[in-house]
Amino acid sequence: MRTLVTGGAGFIGAHLVCRLAEAGRDIVVLDSLEDQVHEGRSPTLPGGVDFVRGDVGDPEAAQRALEGVGTVVHLAALVGVGQSMYEIDRYVRRNSLATATFLEQVVERRDQIERVVVASSMSIYGEGEYECAEHGAVAPPPRSEEQLIARRWSCTCPHCGRDVRSIPTRESKQLIPTSVYAITKRDHEELCLVTGRAYGIPTVALRFFNAYGPGQALSNPYTGVAVIFASRLMNRHPPVIFEDGEQSRDFIHVSDIVEGIALALDAAPAVDQTINLGTGRPTTINQIADLLGQGLGVEIEPARVGQFRAGDIRDCYADVSHARNLLGFEARVTLDRGMDELIAWLGDQEAVDRVEAATSELAARGLAR
Ligand code: UD1
Repeated sequence: MRTLVTGGAGFIGAHLVCRLAEAGRDIVVLDSLEDQVHEGRSPTLPGGVDFVRGDVGDPEAAQRALEGVGTVVHLAALVGVGQSMYEIDRYVRRNSLATATFLEQVVERRDQIERVVVASSMSIYGEGEYECAEHGAVAPPPRSEEQLIARRWSCTCPHCGRDVRSIPTRESKQLIPTSVYAITKRDHEELCLVTGRAYGIPTVALRFFNAYGPGQALSNPYTGVAVIFASRLMNRHPPVIFEDGEQSRDFIHVSDIVEGIALALDAAPAVDQTINLGTGRPTTINQIADLLGQGLGVEIEPARVGQFRAGDIRDCYADVSHARNLLGFEARVTLDRGMDELIAWLGDQEAVDRVEAATSELAARGLAR
């Protein structure tokens, strides 16, 4: 039986397709080739991989792609947190509604589908987990607008108001999405798990942390921070750091994400579970700017504009015990090695810097200030 990868021409999808094709899987890709990501370029897929161009929300395209398919990896999604805050309708249609439409097609073929792996996101947690020196583990609410306008960036203890320390975030944490994008990712996860349970389709939801690596869309100003900074530096422009740059994320190399997906296609204990795919190590945005500046040999100080972006959280990194126990997964690529590899790839690339226009879009709507 074949494996369908939706979004298989995208950043993570393209790496996954290569990995699965090498392992001898028969693969079909369903991808709409979004201009914002692909800029009119055709995807380069390994030999023998079939390609259906279309949206997951188009039942006819999904029908064609699902022919003879036994396993599905559902990656297709729009991914810009900032952009989702003003293209609300587009994000909900193209992420949530399209997944609902796609699932109806999967359900029609439930007798042939042995597994669905869906890409969820750490963004659905909202803030990660924290610890207060006095009150132990706490779940601070999203930072208020008033607090952010006062440039007080840290999360505080809901009991005593003191600053709190970020600790690994477990899958059991209450989900409090703070962006439209995150809501649509929670929809992805819940729609797939609930449908899978109801129809006996073994389903796994993987909560990806911040993926980076070669092949990430360099000229897309709504992509992840690492390549946004790279694109700025390659054009001799300063990276723009929101807040104070001390906010942290769990940066995971794309090859580790792909390994986690491959394990989730087979691991029996993973069925019906939600699993973090991260490294378990936090890195600040300032560190990312430093590593890229050094690696690219560009001595331009980042612009610390003190602005913040609506929908952003402060800190979140993965508790990896579920991934270890249910998938046998361990991230292997250290940040230093991963960044070296990213930088080597950047050497052959051209980046069009569209970040200023994108930030102006946000600012004009009061979504970056
Ligand atoms: C990212 C992904 C999201 C994915 C999630 C978890 C993107 C656009 N977002 O969200 O799809 O689900 O990880 O895997 O790929 N920042 C700056 N300057 C910039 C851009 C960003 O300081 O020019 C800061 C942001 O304010 C934020 C941090 O960098 O504090 C991370 O931002 P971003 O890369 O957009 O990632 P997430 O929002 O964590």
